[in-house]
Amino acid sequence: AILVSRRVKSRRKWNRVVGVLKELEEGCSTPVGRLRQIVDAMVVEMHAGLASEGGSKLKMLLTFIDKLPDGNEEGTYYALDLGGTNFRVLRVQLGGKESKIMGHKVESQPIPQHLMTSTSEDLFDFIASTLKEFVEREGDDYTVQLDRRRELGFTFSFPVKQLSVSSGVLIKWTKGFSIEDLVGKDVAECLQQALTKKGLHMRVAVLVNDTVGTLAVGHYDDDDTVAAVIIGTGTNACYVEQTDAIIKCQGLLTNSGGMVVNMEWGNFWSSHLPRTSYDMDLDADSPNPNDQAFEKMISGMYLGDIVRRVILRMAQESDILGDVPPRLTVPFILSTPLMAAMHEDESSDLTEVSRILKDTFEIDDVPLKGRKVIVRVCDVVTRRAARLVAAGIVGILKKIGRDGSGGVTGGRSKSIGEPSNKVRRTVVAIEGSLYSSYNMFREYLNEAVAEILGEEVAQHVVLKVTEDGPGIGAALLAAAYSSSNVASDN
Ligand code: GLC
Repeated sequence: AILVSRRVKSRRKWNRVVGVLKELEEGCSTPVGRLRQIVDAMVVEMHAGLASEGGSKLKMLLTFIDKLPDGNEEGTYYALDLGGTNFRVLRVQLGGKESKIMGHKVESQPIPQHLMTSTSEDLFDFIASTLKEFVEREGDDYTVQLDRRRELGFTFSFPVKQLSVSSGVLIKWTKGFSIEDLVGKDVAECLQQALTKKGLHMRVAVLVNDTVGTLAVGHYDDDDTVAAVIIGTGTNACYVEQTDAIIKCQGLLTNSGGMVVNMEWGNFWSSHLPRTSYDMDLDADSPNPNDQAFEKMISGMYLGDIVRRVILRMAQESDILGDVPPRLTVPFILSTPLMAAMHEDESSDLTEVSRILKDTFEIDDVPLKGRKVIVRVCDVVTRRAARLVAAGIVGILKKIGRDGSGGVTGGRSKSIGEPSNKVRRTVVAIEGSLYSSYNMFREYLNEAVAEILGEEVAQHVVLKVTEDGPGIGAALLAAAYSSSNVASDN
């Protein structure tokens, strides 16, 4: 009788685990109908954000970038890329007349954790010192010769209210950064001061978001590129909008062509989003509650932690993991790369999952069926994230009339002679490790784009991975917007 009752108890506990999983699956479900609602909500919010300042949670920020590099840029340019997990310094050599990027050098290092919540002075001192060391190693000496001032592109991947291509104030921090004294300040000016203090003779020629750098590189390589998406530590997108559709700035913008708009889609919100209690808890515990809801369901900073929260709930509701393992309660202890490694464990007995559970949470001996449930949790969370990005991308295509629906929803008018419902080849540049290094994520995203658009239209939409787009793009834009706009001596 004791044996039977043990078996019944264990089955009940197991049922609770399965119950948590089922509930998660339902909460995260993204049938194509729901994705289409999200596409439409995205389009509505884009219109609202373009119509008035504060008109939507989508900020739809102006960039003042009204021309993209065309391949005629020449000279040596530097770039700094700050805003993800790593800080990058780049030197890019451009040869004009279609000779394209002749060479580039990148140095990357993790941002020291303490700098993310320190003072702006500490942050910019670190940036300027790193750049100076890099410049010296590269054998350039721009500290003394005043006639050889170098131009620099600064990629600063946070919401910035641009005042011009080369200046703008920080609106708020995202992705775990929090340096309060910088909010409201001109970040380009702060950098310029730090450079000058270090004796570096360089000019901050452009201040850009990482999406904008990526778009610049994408467009440089392929001029059908109309939008760029980042899916890394955070997520965001930018695209080329017709100036006259940017209603909130009418009269201010003289150029009648297009301008790049930084959507800041990480902050997108719609009641159609499949949001679970795990998302709400994660949000409440974050340094920026009520902000960046879309980003918190999608990007690398958060996916691992959503999975951790689900496993924790499973452990609490049953004792399949014994007493709740203390490390399971530590926020962000499960990074997204580890989560992806569990998800993509192809061994029949899931040895990688065992290893990661042991190393990360000090959990031993999870039975195979438990490990399978954990893989399933990773799958559900990743699939939802990838499908939401797909909906966002189709939202942009729909806004600019490239979703094959024939009707031009604002945006670009078709050229004369072009059949109204002919779909043009459209390229979206994508950067970030979730898409470039996480196969399951990429497959789910591509699949969802095809599902929403239909195979026929999806054939014309190319999602193209760029590499070091944010940094190289900033250097290209520094060239396109350099003070002389002619070759610097080389
Ligand atoms: C966050 C930032 C945004 C950036 C994105 C990707 O969402 O607010 O500016 O583009 O992360 O790095």
